[in-house]
Amino acid sequence: MSIRYDGKVAIVTGSGQGLGRCHAIELAKRGARVVVNDLGGNVDGSGGGSEAAQAVVAEIEAAGGEAIANGANVADYGQVEAMVQQAMDKWGRVDILVNNAGILRDKSFAKGSLDDFKLVLDVHLMGTVNCTKACWDIMREQSYGRIVVTTSSSGLYGNFGQTNYGSAKLGVIGLMNTLVQEGAKYNIRVNALAPTAGTRMTEGLIPEEAFALLTPETVTPAVLYMVSEDAPNKTIICAGAGAYAVAKIVETDGAWLPPEEQTPEGIAAHWDAISSPEGERQPEAGFEQTVKMTGKAMEGLGIDNK
Ligand code: NAI
Repeated sequence: MSIRYDGKVAIVTGSGQGLGRCHAIELAKRGARVVVNDLGGNVDGSGGGSEAAQAVVAEIEAAGGEAIANGANVADYGQVEAMVQQAMDKWGRVDILVNNAGILRDKSFAKGSLDDFKLVLDVHLMGTVNCTKACWDIMREQSYGRIVVTTSSSGLYGNFGQTNYGSAKLGVIGLMNTLVQEGAKYNIRVNALAPTAGTRMTEGLIPEEAFALLTPETVTPAVLYMVSEDAPNKTIICAGAGAYAVAKIVETDGAWLPPEEQTPEGIAAHWDAISSPEGERQPEAGFEQTVKMTGKAMEGLGIDNK
């Protein structure tokens, strides 16, 4: 059965071009009414203009879909609230939020300025927080919400010259991890996309042959899956060039050390056991770590763990 979004209202930030444009167009093709948000401007966040968002709206309408353009800066909560209000005034609900807007200010940590660092955090992390916050009560009241945050391999694994971007991109995973817990009883699901795509953001950084394979169209299906009725939850889908994978944060089973070995030397001596991937798992919530650690200690100390 084909996945559709009839009756659903979606906001896609930064959808004037690149990945966001493709997400917005595909959602509209499958029945969603879409707010095409884009501040315009350059890849480093300078400049601005509403033409890009309007052009995508025109494209959606020409294909028989419904969309409105919005020029909010996601880093500005007042503008974001007005954007959500625009969707509510027009369609009365917001079911889907795809946090996609982003910029780059790449520099090595040594050379980069704190102002650039803060700007990148503001757009990616606070932009995602702002948009999610402005939709959250609406989704709770509807008992329905599907949210995607856009992370990056740079945040998950690191990339030279991207401390600011990587920090912001892993920040949105932290946001997701707790939102899923707070949204669960309201049927709000939150997932993350780690894309790799040929857009203006990566132009010149990827060899031409690979760039041609890395089309946004090969990434968007992962977003569409994550905002569908039967979406997964708290899942990081990596997507690019038609290949899809899942990234996970895992913890090794670890080892409990007797008191006399709870020293840096003891940790060095038992490093193989502490870091062994055997038995590693993905905790569902933070408290599981405490339960595991104290459980191991009780076992090691011979305390009855009832
Ligand atoms: P892009 O530069 O083509 O599109 C980003 C869009 O966001 C632009 O249209 C821009 O005007 C808009 N935007 C920037 N700041 C904004 C703001 N403050 N408010 C509203 N709109 C704003 O970039 P691309 O490649 O399509 O990236 C989309 C998302 O995917 C970004 O979050 C990016 O960090 C992420 N990403 C992209 C990867 C890639 O390989 N292209 C890799 C990993 C993550």
